[in-house]
Amino acid sequence: MDVFEAIAKRRSIRKYQEKDVDDKLIGVLLWAAAQAPSAGNLQEWRFIVVRDKKTKELLYNVALRQEHVRQAPVLIVVAADLEIQSLRYGKRGELVYALEDCAAAIENMLLAATALGLGTCWIGAFDEEDVKNILRLPDFVRPIAIITVGYPAEEPEKKEVDYSRFAFLEYYGKKFEFEFKTLHELIMEKIEKLREFIAKKQNKEMVVE
Ligand SMILES: Cc1cc2nc3c(=O)[nH]c(=O)nc-3n(C[C@H](O)[C@H](O)[C@H](O)COP(=O)(O)O)c2cc1C
Repeated sequence: MDVFEAIAKRRSIRKYQEKDVDDKLIGVLLWAAAQAPSAGNLQEWRFIVVRDKKTKELLYNVALRQEHVRQAPVLIVVAADLEIQSLRYGKRGELVYALEDCAAAIENMLLAATALGLGTCWIGAFDEEDVKNILRLPDFVRPIAIITVGYPAEEPEKKEVDYSRFAFLEYYGKKFEFEFKTLHELIMEKIEKLREFIAKKQNKEMVVE
């Protein structure tokens, strides 16, 4: 699966099969996460892999009791070491870069999971202090997201995206008039043009003959 297919296929999965996820695959997800860009290349993301049922139950309780949090065989809690960013970039590092870096790492992880046939869901609704206590995070480490991981037991419906709504040209408000296409659509267009070209060429040759 190439990156475009993974982007197109990735959806939030909230129902999982009983099947466990091998540590080797979790390793691949963490590898993908840590390939993400980070401000100053500080790589301040921290990942806590949770398999223990009791810990999952505790996290479920402080994450609005969302069923998929305790149902997923594996949780990966993504946290940021704020001290590292703050030492280099002050408030901006702590308040902005740390979150951005973790978000980039998370998306890499979600796409890698999709390519491996795994389902994930990004969980942002949880009590930070409670998560810190459950996972024994030091004061300077902030939990950013809980990622549920497992083999999908559902196939979400296709998502509608209104591309005309969020792209501007030169300044905010001036619409960027551009057709948003997937790589697949672009390739199909090229193939269609090639077909037309060949058909025309064949017609010409037939006329000459
Ligand atoms: C920052 C953030 C927080 C989110 N928090 C939750 C959450 O607490 N529970 C949940 O089920 N989904 C959560 N999601 C997933 C979104 O609901 C989901 O990405 C969105 O509905 C689009 O669907 P898709 O991921 O299938 O494309 C979160 C996503 C992001 C980026």
